[in-house]
Amino acid sequence: METERRRLLVANWKMHFVRAQALEYLKVFTERVQGLHKTELVLAPPFTLLEAVGREIIKTMIRLAAQDLFYEREGAFTGEISPLMLKDLGCSYVIVGHSERRRIFGETDELIHKKIKAALEAEIAPILCVGETLEERRAGGTQTVLESQMRGALEGLMLFAPSPLAPLPSEGEGSRGEGDRLVIAYEPVWAIGTGVNAKPIEAEASALFIRELLAQLFNAEIAKEIRILYGGSVKPENLEDFLKQPNIDGALVGGASLDPEAFAQMAQIAERCDG
Ligand code: 13P
Repeated sequence: METERRRLLVANWKMHFVRAQALEYLKVFTERVQGLHKTELVLAPPFTLLEAVGREIIKTMIRLAAQDLFYEREGAFTGEISPLMLKDLGCSYVIVGHSERRRIFGETDELIHKKIKAALEAEIAPILCVGETLEERRAGGTQTVLESQMRGALEGLMLFAPSPLAPLPSEGEGSRGEGDRLVIAYEPVWAIGTGVNAKPIEAEASALFIRELLAQLFNAEIAKEIRILYGGSVKPENLEDFLKQPNIDGALVGGASLDPEAFAQMAQIAERCDG
């Protein structure tokens, strides 16, 4: 039953690369992943590169994600980027509520909720990031934090409403389930950029907890369809151990995704791993 969820690898480039670097990257990466089809591959470049990257990958199976969005469609919001603008550039996904945005830019659950809603309405699948800090973990508060972040972001949303949420547009043949409209990334803050990844078994416990919450927030069927990623110091050497976990459907990769060879290697690992 878990195997029906298509595996997903997302490269979060964060604030890295200018155009020439991105084009160099794509030359290597697109060639290395040619012919892979089981795993969905997504690149999340900074806003400034969405158009250039989108143009290069349009004829491939690789899909485009933005790293953030604002919740209004248009208006006097200097410096912000709307769902409409992301849609116009061909984004299929958008990362929402990354811990760097929560921590450095003060994003609240309330703001994140509005962003998730706006993404869903624009038919861009949000990748909602949740995860506890080291202090919260040490205090035994992991599940409490996950629950309040999940509820804050998702409670009251009609993920499965037939309208106005039409199926995602850029998908090829085959229909997507309702659960494909949302992705959750479990990213323990203490594992991000530290080289210290969570133990796969611990990440699985959190992923299972998240899936149970999704069943409460939506329903059991949708909870089964929604993909849950692990993020935090994922690299080619540890990816397979995460993918083998029954509730982990892929990875959100930061640092290691900046190397096209390493990210392509991860795509190959995901393609042949049966977990
Ligand atoms: P690292 O893979 O660099 O730990 O970053 C994880 C992350 O924040 C992805 O969104």
